Amino acid sequence: MSRQTFSRRALLAATGAAAASSLLPRRAFPASKAKIRIGLLLPYSGTYAALGNNITDAMKLAAREHDNKLGGREIDWVAVDDESDPAKAPANVNKLVVGEKVDVLTGPVHSGVAMAMMQIVRQEKTLTIVTNAGAQAVTGQLCAPNVFRTSFSNWQTSYPCADVVLKDGRKKAVLMFWNYSFGQESMAAFKEGFTKGGGTIVKEIPVPFPTTEFQANLSEIAALKPDAVFVFFAGAGAAKFVKDYADAGLRDKVPLYGSGFLTEGVLRAQGAAAEGIKTTLHYADSLDTPVNQKFREAFKKATSRDADVYAVAGYDTVHLLASALAKVQGDTGAQKELIAALESARTDSPRGPFRFSKAHNPVQNVYVRQVKGGKEVVLGIAQKDADDPAFGCQMAT
Ligand code: BEZ
Repeated sequence: MSRQTFSRRALLAATGAAAASSLLPRRAFPASKAKIRIGLLLPYSGTYAALGNNITDAMKLAAREHDNKLGGREIDWVAVDDESDPAKAPANVNKLVVGEKVDVLTGPVHSGVAMAMMQIVRQEKTLTIVTNAGAQAVTGQLCAPNVFRTSFSNWQTSYPCADVVLKDGRKKAVLMFWNYSFGQESMAAFKEGFTKGGGTIVKEIPVPFPTTEFQANLSEIAALKPDAVFVFFAGAGAAKFVKDYADAGLRDKVPLYGSGFLTEGVLRAQGAAAEGIKTTLHYADSLDTPVNQKFREAFKKATSRDADVYAVAGYDTVHLLASALAKVQGDTGAQKELIAALESARTDSPRGPFRFSKAHNPVQNVYVRQVKGGKEVVLGIAQKDADDPAFGCQMAT
């Protein structure tokens, strides 16, 4: 299905949903301190399942730190497995927004799902907090007062990596990526920085999402003999890619770079194959701050798993919501005041300094990390207070 056809269909579905929902009564508040309904549009199956689970569990961890109440209201979590499938996104979003009448929608992981979601939440004016998907348009062309993002934009995680590669003296790069909006935008951002700094892109290798058959492409890379390879893969696909790259004998010949999703949450599975990989991201396990240490310990205790960047976004989402909802005494109907409270909300994030930009995207440090001895070591800050350019964002007031 072409991108254009897809957007038209999503728009039609959204228009239908809007018409239907305007006939439905809105939930009244505050008749009693009714439970606040938080929608989770996340992947619980497929290649991004671990990401969805970490976001969810970190949100619940943060909620427990507020006695499971937001703005004085108990929480009703309403989860839908979005399967990282953009084609199913309009139906899944409608299920949460129109069917379940959630007060706040959170998620998704996949940028294609986020794009379909944006059409609907813009019309329905549902307060939405994007907890992972990095699609530029969310806080760019499609930015909206009721939409915030606690994760990152594609540009933020990929553009700074160009400088890292160039500083390593590597000028000829091959790009390899899952061929959907995140991969495409991530490559464009890297390419912008890399060519500006005098680098050349030798070849771009798109791979359909969520394919993990990389052999033929890795043979091609070996034949091209570039100085560096910059990639986008995440979750289970990233674990497999890094192992395949080493198995193909490329690890010691052509250094691998990427946005940090390449190793995030999958370092243990990648083992020795990941040694030496440099990435850029707004978080690292090893950030040596009391807040990060406390968060990692609490997450591990609650889930028996290690926290990662996905968990950080979930954790911060609930803390920010708690702070904003406290200011409006839990009244989600007071949307203007709630948005203003979120815009000025601050949280002690495990990632370091955090604030929302005018476009509602995080302004945050982007770190250079390298895998050493099975650990993600922070080499320094690639970009301090990185602010996404928010191209095309015209925020309605
Ligand atoms: C995305 O589709 O935006 C995305 C998915 C996984 C990791 C990072 C970004």
